[in-house]
Amino acid sequence: MQFISLRITFLLTLIVQSSISVPVPAKPKLGKADHVLGENGDLQSANTGIARWAVRSKLDGASSGNNMGHQHSNQNLTTGVEREQLLGMYHVFEDFAPHNTISVGGYWSNVNMTGNLYCEMEKVPICQELSAVNEHRRCFRYQNENERLNYGSLLLNTSDIKIVTPDRKMYLLPFPHPFNITVVKTTPIAGCQNNPITCHPIVSNGCLVYVCHVLQNTKAFQVTVNTEGNLGIVDMIAICHYETAQFIPAHVAFRLLNKAPGDVVCHFVGVPNHLMCKNEKQQP
Ligand SMILES: *[C@@H]1O[C@H](CO)[C@@H](O)[C@H](O)[C@H]1NC(C)=O
Ligand SMILES: *[C@@H]1O[C@H](CO)[C@@H](O)[C@H](O)[C@H]1NC(C)=O
Ligand SMILES: *[C@@H]1O[C@H](CO)[C@@H](O)[C@H](O)[C@H]1NC(C)=O
Ligand SMILES: *[C@@H]1O[C@H](CO)[C@@H](O)[C@H](O)[C@H]1NC(C)=O
Repeated sequence: MQFISLRITFLLTLIVQSSISVPVPAKPKLGKADHVLGENGDLQSANTGIARWAVRSKLDGASSGNNMGHQHSNQNLTTGVEREQLLGMYHVFEDFAPHNTISVGGYWSNVNMTGNLYCEMEKVPICQELSAVNEHRRCFRYQNENERLNYGSLLLNTSDIKIVTPDRKMYLLPFPHPFNITVVKTTPIAGCQNNPITCHPIVSNGCLVYVCHVLQNTKAFQVTVNTEGNLGIVDMIAICHYETAQFIPAHVAFRLLNKAPGDVVCHFVGVPNHLMCKNEKQQP
């Protein structure tokens, strides 16, 4: 019942991929950290105001089993299960060419986000995991939007942030059942060409938190697709990582795409994740 009324609500509030400009304090300052993952690269940023790439040597700290949908960990699921669960999420950039048909499905979109908002952050497992790649990454209380914005403001070096969310129509697509989509066009998202930050709501040990992270040399694209059935055009968001030499060879992206460290890998962003980008105007 709850699910049905949710769907109706989304039907009534259908919006195309939205981006909202959010003013953040002119002098960005990080709020008190709920928790910082891995080594203290991000803490150094907080102290100096200079965003630096965290260097993490430990590659095997991540365990996982969460629903982040974008694993940079070396979780070892069988390939068959991965293919089913992550069907159509990972891509090479060439897949986003017009007229290309992509099979999608699985649980990487439309996750169930029921969780406690008031957990002790130090005890939330996802907030303790080390990242398997060099990145800025940080846990936030789900409801603490200001801290996320301040973090984005610091990393993007701007006080004018744009929140980019996937097209809400994605909620109406038949995930996790397999279905096909056809690419109409692919456009760079303005302001998201220089390391956009992706924020994932994650339920970890019953706790609902946001994990926001960004990898160096990353760009975001709007991939406009035609869906089967009567939903028509949906604007999906894809993130492409151009610097993957430091990813482990067993990274799920490489295994699913038959690629290797150094190759460009892309993935769709499931609802209800969002990006923080610089608020730059989209070229017509
Ligand atoms: C994944 O599992 C296989 C078979 O159990 C094993 O041979 C392989 O070393 C594992 N890979 C990782 C990265 O743990
Ligand atoms: C989401 O998960 C919670 C807790 O596991 C469960 O009680 C609830 O029924 C789930 N909601 C949906 C729509 O699946
Ligand atoms: C941040 O932005 C300011 C003003 O736009 C610019 O002067 C400065 O060089 C930038 N800093 C970095 C580290 O890019
Ligand atoms: C998706 O398209 C392929 C051919 O491109 C087809 O084999 C497959 O059955 C289609 N899948 C669905 C769920 O329609």
